[in-house]
Amino acid sequence: MPSKRILLIVGGGIAAYKACELIRLMARSGHEVTCVLTAGGAQFVTAMTLAALSGNRVHTSLWDAGEEAEIGHIQLSRAADLVVVCPASADLLAKMAAGICDDLATTLLLATDKRVLAVPAMNVRMWQHAATRRNVARLDGDGVIVMPPDEGPMACGEFGPGRLPEPAQILARIEELWASDHDAAREDRPLAGRHLLVTAGPTYERIDPVRYLANRSSGKQGFAIAAAAAAAGARVTLVAGPVGLTTPPGIERIDVESADEMARAVDGALPADCAVMVAAVADWRLAETSGRKLKKDDGPPPTLDLAENPDILADLAGRADRPRLVIGFAAETHDVLDHAIAKRARKNADWIVANDVSGDVMGGEVNAVHLVRAKGVESWPPMPKSEVARRLVDAIARELADG
Ligand code: CTP
Repeated sequence: MPSKRILLIVGGGIAAYKACELIRLMARSGHEVTCVLTAGGAQFVTAMTLAALSGNRVHTSLWDAGEEAEIGHIQLSRAADLVVVCPASADLLAKMAAGICDDLATTLLLATDKRVLAVPAMNVRMWQHAATRRNVARLDGDGVIVMPPDEGPMACGEFGPGRLPEPAQILARIEELWASDHDAAREDRPLAGRHLLVTAGPTYERIDPVRYLANRSSGKQGFAIAAAAAAAGARVTLVAGPVGLTTPPGIERIDVESADEMARAVDGALPADCAVMVAAVADWRLAETSGRKLKKDDGPPPTLDLAENPDILADLAGRADRPRLVIGFAAETHDVLDHAIAKRARKNADWIVANDVSGDVMGGEVNAVHLVRAKGVESWPPMPKSEVARRLVDAIARELADG
């Protein structure tokens, strides 16, 4: 493994002493380690210790004018190949999740364009608290890699998850990350060098500040396709409606709410080699939304006047700069193939993936689809959505390679 530059942020907590051992192991593996010590961390280890172990100057303050002129705190986080937060205290995780930057460490974490690995260590109840669960889920969604803590007796006398993993395990996780980067960069992946645009999930169409029109799409099939395309080496932009799913690794995710926002995000993500429009876009939005909550005593039940949403798929397929391969989905409850074949022609899509949603496909794990192309229809047996995704990505790779 070629040596790397690691920016190590040492947070507050008794486990900070294990960061010292981690630095030693990293240095022994040939990595260049630069440390940032938080005020909390400095209660447990000294800057002198970290400097001696890393062989580099330790950074502690955002307000060091000399240092700002010399390298700049943003530079510090960008010069690294990886940012490791160890130990990541509950407080530090909360700040990271909220985007708070009130010291050097949190500012670097917000300013970095590099991958971040957080290694939490804290009391078991703090780790299990709903607030920490929420923060970890949010960080996960933001693409931060959070290493699960070990379980065992803790310094505070309690037992359970919250212990910092052993330094050797942390280093192994770091090397594993680099090994997977190396794989991802391999040029022999079938979609290497391609840009895929995927839409997924439902759209929410606002009625008033508390109500919206929506549908039952879970986003699972679209997320699985985005993940499979990234695994095949593509650069993937995933435009996601409101869903409770975490972002698969290596994907740029743009969250949107309404069909209008989705249309704009799709436009902004072009050019692409292929677009896979899996989103269950609402066909209609409210002709007029209310700025205040509609009240029962405003009068009789309101009539919802609807206006048609833009057809994102048809608009995209009709553009001069359209992706070479435009794929739509057709969720149907009856006459599945007839509707899908007609939809392909009507929307000018190259392929339509049709599925029967009369059962529990929406939200479920299994899907049975028909791939409708100009050359005919292929019907696939029921299979997990991840497998549908893999097969579709294989077909896309073959198609793009052919022309
Ligand atoms: N789609 C879209 N924009 C819309 C509606 C649908 O991009 N406003 C896309 C979906 O992402 C999907 C395909 O069009 O890829 C088919 O969606 P579907 O809802 O099945 O088709 P509709 O055109 O809405 O037809 P209908 O609801 O009448 O079956």
